[in-house]
Amino acid sequence: MSERFETKTVHIGHQPLRHAQSKTTPIYQTSVFAFNGLEEVEQYYAGEGEYLYTRNGNPNPTELADAIAKLEAAEEGVSTASGMGAIMAGLLAVLNPGDHMLASHEIYGGTYALMSKELSRMGIELECINLNEQTSLEPFIRPNTRMFFLETITNPLLRVVDMPFWIKQAKQFGLTVMVDNTFATPYLVQPFAFGADVVVHSATKYIGGHSDVTSGVLVGRKDLVSRAREIVVNYGASLSPFEAWLTARGLKTLALRMERQCDNASQVAAFLRAHPAVSTVYYPSVADTRFFTRNKQGAMVSFCLQDESKIYSFYRNLDWIPFAPSLAGVETSVSHPVTTSHRAFSEEQRQATGITMGLVRLSVGIEAAEDIIAELGKALKK
Ligand SMILES: Cc1ncc(COP(=O)(O)O)c(C=O)c1O
Repeated sequence: MSERFETKTVHIGHQPLRHAQSKTTPIYQTSVFAFNGLEEVEQYYAGEGEYLYTRNGNPNPTELADAIAKLEAAEEGVSTASGMGAIMAGLLAVLNPGDHMLASHEIYGGTYALMSKELSRMGIELECINLNEQTSLEPFIRPNTRMFFLETITNPLLRVVDMPFWIKQAKQFGLTVMVDNTFATPYLVQPFAFGADVVVHSATKYIGGHSDVTSGVLVGRKDLVSRAREIVVNYGASLSPFEAWLTARGLKTLALRMERQCDNASQVAAFLRAHPAVSTVYYPSVADTRFFTRNKQGAMVSFCLQDESKIYSFYRNLDWIPFAPSLAGVETSVSHPVTTSHRAFSEEQRQATGITMGLVRLSVGIEAAEDIIAELGKALKK
């Protein structure tokens, strides 16, 4: 097998011999697997058989998890019913009541809700840190600090924190590091190269890539993934065969999609920077992404309208770019953080973070860049 990401991504999941030589993997749409007698059941529990009951394991979710584990250069993986399922399993695999964790202060709202509303009920404490400036982690470390959580590219301001710097420090204090690599994908960066212990994905986004599936994947060190897998099974957060199949099918074109979407996004960002109706453009710089494996800066672009009173008409004026509060599909789409993901923010929080009424989040798709630019230009002009 070639070591090139583009080739591996297409071939790495499917093993034809396991599937009666079928060229693509069939969907194992079954809730349970049949056994030829009690001896075989015993063999399963002795670790010799692979499948028993789909919540515990099924070839389709296994194929997806194995593929992402290989692309991220991790030891093992487990698929989950959503990105949140993967984050939940990864956190609970490490944290116990009385533990303390550190997280970037710019994380997905659902992740923050899980940590602050649910894990707090289990006696797990959260402290958020601004990772945009390099400082020492030392003042934040307590005897019970166990974990460090960050995202490769943040949402919605698309900041790329200095991941190698932060992981190195977290490891010095013996913390388990979990990275949400949803926005970058292993096409752009592989956090294990810098010492991460667990990487999670909302595979709903670029991994699936077609806005037709909700799924998640957690990959990492064997011991952590084994514990996370038990948690997924016990909490009922397993991925269904059909969703896994759709996600694994989407994965095959990840490299093609990412290449095109990133190239389109950089052209769109340049256009927006020069547009008089736009005050600020948020798009990672070449310097920010110096530790990425490609000279590409991602496929998301956020920007602020000069006159935020025009925000309603801007969205109305878009003809074929849909408003959709998700991202990463092959179709370009727009979202509005203040009325969706960051709805709970007070006016002070909005001003302090820059997530203001005039902020538009754009997920750039695979269409012709000229058409995306023309459509945005039309809506900005009106
Ligand atoms: C960075 C990030 N992580 C995790 C999630 C949660 O993923 P899911 O919606 O698949 O549960 C999201 C969802 O938007 C996200 O943007």
